Amino acid sequence: MVGIRKTLLSSLVLCTGLVSALTSTLQQVTSFTGSQNPTNVGFFYYKPTTVAASPALIVAIHECTATGTVYFESTTYAALADTYGFIVIYPSSPNSGTCWDVSSAATLTHNGGGDSFGIANMVPYAISNWHVDATKVFVTGSSSGAMMTNVQASVYPELYAGASVYSGVAAGCFVSNFGGVDAWNSTCSEGLTNDTQAQWANTVHAMYPGYTGSYPPIQEYHGTADTTLFPNNLNEEIKEWCGVFGYEATAPTQVLQNTPLSGYTKSIYGPRLQGILAQGVGHTVPVQEMEDLEWFGIVGSQTTPPTTTTTGTPPTTTASAPPPSGSTVAEWGQCGGQGWTGGTVCASPFTCTVVNAFYSQCL
Ligand SMILES: *[C@@H]1O[C@H](CO)[C@@H](O)[C@H](O)[C@H]1NC(C)=O
Ligand SMILES: *[C@@H]1O[C@H](CO)[C@@H](O)[C@H](O)[C@H]1NC(C)=O
Repeated sequence: MVGIRKTLLSSLVLCTGLVSALTSTLQQVTSFTGSQNPTNVGFFYYKPTTVAASPALIVAIHECTATGTVYFESTTYAALADTYGFIVIYPSSPNSGTCWDVSSAATLTHNGGGDSFGIANMVPYAISNWHVDATKVFVTGSSSGAMMTNVQASVYPELYAGASVYSGVAAGCFVSNFGGVDAWNSTCSEGLTNDTQAQWANTVHAMYPGYTGSYPPIQEYHGTADTTLFPNNLNEEIKEWCGVFGYEATAPTQVLQNTPLSGYTKSIYGPRLQGILAQGVGHTVPVQEMEDLEWFGIVGSQTTPPTTTTTGTPPTTTASAPPPSGSTVAEWGQCGGQGWTGGTVCASPFTCTVVNAFYSQCL
C-alpha cells in the first residue's frame, strides 16, 4: 500500500475560500498482476472516506514522464471525489519514459493485450470490489494519456459512459506499422495523417470487430499552439468520432465561443461529440475537471450561458442568424468558414484568423 496525503494548495479553492486536505490517501493494488495485466500497468486509486452508493468511477491517465501518483497530485479529481463521492483510478505506465503503448497491434485490439488491456481490466476490478456502478465509468487523460483515452474508447467502448481527451491524437493515428510497442509516430504527431471520416470509422471498428454496442460520448480538447502533437490532430479526432457516430465534421450543429474558457471555442457535432479548440494554448491544454464532471453527468451542468452563440451548418432553430455580411465582427466573433454568411471584417485591431475549414475567428 502506498499512502500519500496530499494538501491542496492553489489548485483548488473551495467556495468557502479555504484550501482543503483530502479525506483519504492514494492507494495501490499491488496484486493486479498476471494475465489480466500482461504489461504490469501500475494500479493506483483514490477512494474517498465517504463514497456514494453505487459510485461513479473515473479512470484518469497521465502524460509521458509522469506517473499515476503525479496525475493524482497535478489534477483535482481526488478533491472532487471527496465532494461528489466517486472513485478515481490512476494507471501508471510501465514503459521507459512512461508514455503509453498506443502503437502496437496488441494494445489496439480488443482483448489483445498491451497497456490498454491492463487499464481496461481495472474497471471490472473496481466494479466487483468497490461496487462501482458499471453504467457510470468514465475515462480521461492528458497527452499520451489522452491518446490512451481515445484508445480505451475505441478498443473497450463497452466499459465507458463518457470520455474527455486533453491534447491527444485519434485512436490508431500513432500506430506502428512495424509492430513497435510504445513507438513514436512523427507522421501522426506532426498532424500529417489525414484520413476521411469513413477511414477513421473503419480504423476504430477494426479494433473491436463485430462490436455493435455504443461508443462513449467524447470531448476532445486541443491547443492551437501545440508543437508536440500538431493542432491538425484535433481535426483527425473529430473526423474519427464523427465517422463512428454518423456526424459531419464539416458541419458542427453549434459553435460556442469563449467556452468553457475565454479564447476556447467549443464545436458541438451532436450529443456525443464536442471539440474544444484552445486559442494560443500549447501542449497540453490544462485539465478542466469540473467540465469533465458535467460532461460525464456526475454533476449538473452550469446554468451560466455562453457569452456568444453562433451556429454551424445546418443552423438550428434556437440559434440566432449570423450578422449581415457587411457588419464588423468583434473580438472572438466568427468571421469565416464553410457556410458562413456573416461579417468577414474584424473590428480593429483584430484580424480574421482561420481556425479550421469551417471556422475563422477575430483574434
Ligand atoms: C504512423 O501512423 C500513420 C497513421 O497515422 C501510418 O500511416 C504510418 O505508417 C505510421 N508510421 C510508422 C513508421 O509506422
Ligand atoms: C486533408 O485532405 C482533405 C481532402 O483531400 C483536404 O481538403 C485537407 O486540406 C487535408 N488536410 C490537411 C491538414 O492536410
